[in-house]
Amino acid sequence: MPQPNAVKCLVVDDEPRLRRVLVRLLEGEGFTCAEAGSGVEALEMMQQDPVPLVISDLRMPQMDGVTLLRGLLAKWPDTAVLVVTAVAEVESAVACLQLGALDYVAKPFHLDEVRARVMQALDKRRLILENRMYHQQLEDRVQEQARRIEELSLERLQALVHFLEEKDTYLRGHSVRVANYALAIARGMSLPPAALDMIALGAELHDIGKIGVRESVLHKPGKLSEAEYRHIMEHPVIGARVLAPLMRDAPAALAIVRSHHERLDGKGFPDGLKGKEVAIEVRVVTVADSFDAMTSVRPYRPALLVPKALQELEDGKAVQFDPEVVQAFLAAFPDKAALPVATPEVQPLHLPIAPLEARRG
Ligand SMILES: [Fe+2]
Repeated sequence: MPQPNAVKCLVVDDEPRLRRVLVRLLEGEGFTCAEAGSGVEALEMMQQDPVPLVISDLRMPQMDGVTLLRGLLAKWPDTAVLVVTAVAEVESAVACLQLGALDYVAKPFHLDEVRARVMQALDKRRLILENRMYHQQLEDRVQEQARRIEELSLERLQALVHFLEEKDTYLRGHSVRVANYALAIARGMSLPPAALDMIALGAELHDIGKIGVRESVLHKPGKLSEAEYRHIMEHPVIGARVLAPLMRDAPAALAIVRSHHERLDGKGFPDGLKGKEVAIEVRVVTVADSFDAMTSVRPYRPALLVPKALQELEDGKAVQFDPEVVQAFLAAFPDKAALPVATPEVQPLHLPIAPLEARRG
């Protein structure tokens, strides 16, 4: 009678008498056995119900044991395959071991020997599987630690952004406020959690590239010359370059850094992307960034009043900004008297976790 937790085994031999001997032996050891009279039948049965152990004769008409072994291991590489061979075929048996069979039994066989070989093969298979699992877990831990190291590096960069902003009265708190506005917009648009993570990360670091802009230009009180404007507008590219090695798991956040000065009409920087070529995460941050920039004091102009800044967003709809995003911004802050919002507390940055699976491939 088959036992519920018995290891399943497939015996393949064109001679029914030999199959029966093996089946009786294995069932006596508590295995549940199926029988196949040929390699083709064995592969079909595996297709229906893959088993962990296959014992196969080598010399069979239609499909020999070597071909069957190849087919089995190609499709079910974790199968423990034992080949049964005549003494004169030991060479073929060795070839089977090289192909991945776990062991062979020479005919005429002693039942004790078959029993021992089967147990050994299953032990070997278990060890291989455990070893693989151990490696996988180790790999996961290494990946996790690599991610943590990247996260810590991003936190240092976040600290650098805040340090830069602290030095500059006009920029103080800019990135945190942009992240705050952007998240409010994104939530209002019901963007998925993964997009919110990317937006938080990208918005907090979007201006990191300003570390590469000369202070005399960055803080210039008057109007910028053409060359100075071009120099300041290098900051998205510089930022993306600095962050690229740390943001392999956060491509949308990296896109925010590179593309937050793109415009819907394709007249933005640095790539002149147009319309939906600009990712939604970027379009969200662009509106948040622009509103905060307009309502902050700049070295060359006072802060715009909120109604004026909102009007600018309205006027920029479909030209500079995504109309849906502007709409979501207005809906997220219905009380205009509460704008601009106060600078929120700085939160630690997190790299999104989901893409770890993808990285493993
Ligand atoms: Fe910027």
